[in-house]
Amino acid sequence: MFAAAFSAPGYDDEPDAEHFATDQLPTHADREDFRLVTARADGRLTGFAYGFTGRRGQWWPDRIAEAVSAELADAWIGGHFEVVELAVRPDAQRNGLGTELMTALLSGLPHRRALLTTYSDDRPAPRLYRRLGWQVLVPDLGWGSALYGLDRGVPEGR
Ligand SMILES: CC(C)(COP(=O)(O)OP(=O)(O)OC[C@H]1O[C@@H](n2cnc3c(N)ncnc32)[C@H](O)[C@@H]1OP(=O)(O)O)[C@@H](O)C(=O)NCCC(=O)NCCS
Repeated sequence: MFAAAFSAPGYDDEPDAEHFATDQLPTHADREDFRLVTARADGRLTGFAYGFTGRRGQWWPDRIAEAVSAELADAWIGGHFEVVELAVRPDAQRNGLGTELMTALLSGLPHRRALLTTYSDDRPAPRLYRRLGWQVLVPDLGWGSALYGLDRGVPEGR
């Protein structure tokens, strides 16, 4: 599913599905507050999204903190909900599933701030995030990715 979504026409990534399944996902599944949401149709996985609470000292938050201003890093990084992946099988796209998955992933979370990186060019994913109220914190971090943040306006839960 991961490979199908990220190797569809228009995506120049060469998805390493083996790494995703055997290394990335099992590592992330042990992280604080890990949450994975899935969509299925006729018993077949059609989409998923996942994330967890990100902390300073982890690779991604530290890499982002180095790439942004200290002020922005202090305000956003550490204790945030980190959205790591969102993917919908190409033949199930453009039916609202990605939007539903993203909404379900964040539903009921106590985190005030959520963070993600996505494509800095115009694609379905960044459009979807902006529609759901995410703001562009850094349009281009320097490696083709943009940093998006969502201020969920709920009390800091942790
Ligand atoms: C990003 C992604 C998850 C979106 O999934 P999706 O299920 O197509 O998402 P949605 O259906 O909610 O929205 C996508 C588009 O379909 C449109 N749409 C939704 N329901 C629709 C319907 N019933 N009829 C017509 N269009 C519809 C939306 O308006 C949106 O349009 P836009 O891209 O022009 O803004 C999917 O494109 C994907 O897996 N891409 C590859 C992986 C990827 O980029 N992941 C994110 C990494 S940061």
